Amino acid sequence: MISTKDFPKFSDSSGSLTFIEGENHIPFTISRVYYVYDVAENALRGHHAHKQLEQYLMCVHGSCSVWMDNGKSKEKIRLDSPSTGLYVGPSIWHVMEDFSPGAVLLVLASAPYDESDYIRDYEEFLRYVKEKDV
Ligand code: TYD
Repeated sequence: MISTKDFPKFSDSSGSLTFIEGENHIPFTISRVYYVYDVAENALRGHHAHKQLEQYLMCVHGSCSVWMDNGKSKEKIRLDSPSTGLYVGPSIWHVMEDFSPGAVLLVLASAPYDESDYIRDYEEFLRYVKEKDV
């Protein structure tokens, strides 16, 4: 379930640079970029799944943990590198937690914001993945 990718990184004594090209480094055209920041200590984010949306998540500053749940099992990964992206595809319930102070979570998404693509109720999510499995 956990699939990460290390993006190109150029580092020298003056600093580091990472770049990401849609369709080259990630398997979709980037349609939307958003970022989560100013997250309070002990706050949880996410708590939903998407029907179609594909996303890459990366902590470009600080770190956070991401729980991924496909309805059958759960896995947790710590994102702590600005050049490592986590792929979150459709039908994955995800929860972000344990944000370090000042952490910035950058997300590249395959489509514009669409509330009808969200499943925000966990029981509904379990029914959805079960029906899809049949
Ligand atoms: P949400 O996806 O629930 O955030 P998180 O998973 O980090 O908890 O979005 C929070 C709010 O922001 C929600 O009211 C919808 C809105 N929103 C947009 O309007 N556009 C966007 O691109 C995103 C990601 C969220």
